[in-house]
Amino acid sequence: MHNVAITGTGVFTPSEIITNDELVTAFNAYADLWNAENAQAIASGQAEAKEHSSSDFIVAASGIEQRYVLDKDGVLDPSRMFPHLAARPDDEPGHMAEIGVDAAQKALAMAGIAASDVDLVICAASNMERAYPAIGVEIQQLLGAGGFAFDMNVACSSATFGIQTAADMIRSSSIRRALVINPEICSAHLEWRDRDCHFIFGDVATATLLERDEGLTAPHFKILGTRCATQFSNNIRNNNGYLRRTQDRMEDRRDMQFMQNGRKVFKEVLPLVSKHIAGHMADTGIAPADLRRLWLHQANKTMNDYIGKKVLGRMPEPGEQPNILQDYANTSSAGSIIAFSKYSDDLAKGDKGLICSFGAGYSVGSVIVERG
Ligand code: COA
Repeated sequence: MHNVAITGTGVFTPSEIITNDELVTAFNAYADLWNAENAQAIASGQAEAKEHSSSDFIVAASGIEQRYVLDKDGVLDPSRMFPHLAARPDDEPGHMAEIGVDAAQKALAMAGIAASDVDLVICAASNMERAYPAIGVEIQQLLGAGGFAFDMNVACSSATFGIQTAADMIRSSSIRRALVINPEICSAHLEWRDRDCHFIFGDVATATLLERDEGLTAPHFKILGTRCATQFSNNIRNNNGYLRRTQDRMEDRRDMQFMQNGRKVFKEVLPLVSKHIAGHMADTGIAPADLRRLWLHQANKTMNDYIGKKVLGRMPEPGEQPNILQDYANTSSAGSIIAFSKYSDDLAKGDKGLICSFGAGYSVGSVIVERG
């Protein structure tokens, strides 16, 4: 059995930002248009008028202040409310591969490793651009990595589940190095016309490089333990898949985009995650006082505050549990990796921390690390 370390991380951040105010202006214009078009049905009680959204609500309910997206114009066009993301020709890199490669190259540069020395690429994300060939294989080819590649989807927990998968292969000697890449183009599976959730997601790609923990001289993070758990729930669901081709009126199917019962998710996921982390820490011999930092899934600030307090047994000090969701919104599986990538450099040798993601499935994944 080999020990495993994280030696590099990378984040691709799109250049376009949508602020809450811009988003709400577009949403409200869309709602007004819809209400005008459906005035008769609303007046006769056959349809309900769409209510306006509000920036104050978004910040209070989620902590989100803005989000990065690949295409701002399409999302903010009240007659469209969806990004312009054209399917790429087969001989050009796909959207996910393109942003995944950018994040992967940053992770490789950080570790000073050549792509050809990587022998596993996992593309782990919530939504795949196509069924096959695997996006991971496309990224492997674009990077010039060796070995093999595949895709996996565990929704918001894809990154941590990918890390455990890669770490297990390194531990058991079947590979030496792996890139776990999370291209999350959430703008393409968010229903921007739904007031309850239109503010939730943003786009990003993250990458994590894992290696055998042998002879490493540069700063790295030893993986002390990984743990994954799942429990079936319909409270976060997206029915889009191959059955879509068999459905009539597919344009109008609300269940072909992200759907959630946010309140229930809140209530059910919090105890699941708190218990999962406590069990993982206890079994790894880590006490709350041993943890210098928590890099949590970035869906909701109140949720993170609650989990931080449960794990540490007190309110986290500023900087102990960095949030990035105010800038990025929820970026599905990439959120905890963005936080880890941006807020881990300052840890000293021996400092320990916990990466944790959770979401649809339900799924929870945790990775306990120590600065080496
Ligand atoms: N603008 C203004 N008001 C809004 C609104 C908007 N955009 N969206 C909803 N509201 C209103 C509702 O109409 C409701 O009003 P009412 O109480 O008068 O009926 C009220 O706000 C509360 O709505 P609710 O959906 O219960 O809000 P919330 O406080 O639960 O926050 C979420 C919504 C989605 C931010 C929150 O539930 C959440 O983050 N849940 C967990 C999400 C999660 O982890 N998901 C995982 C995805 S990967």
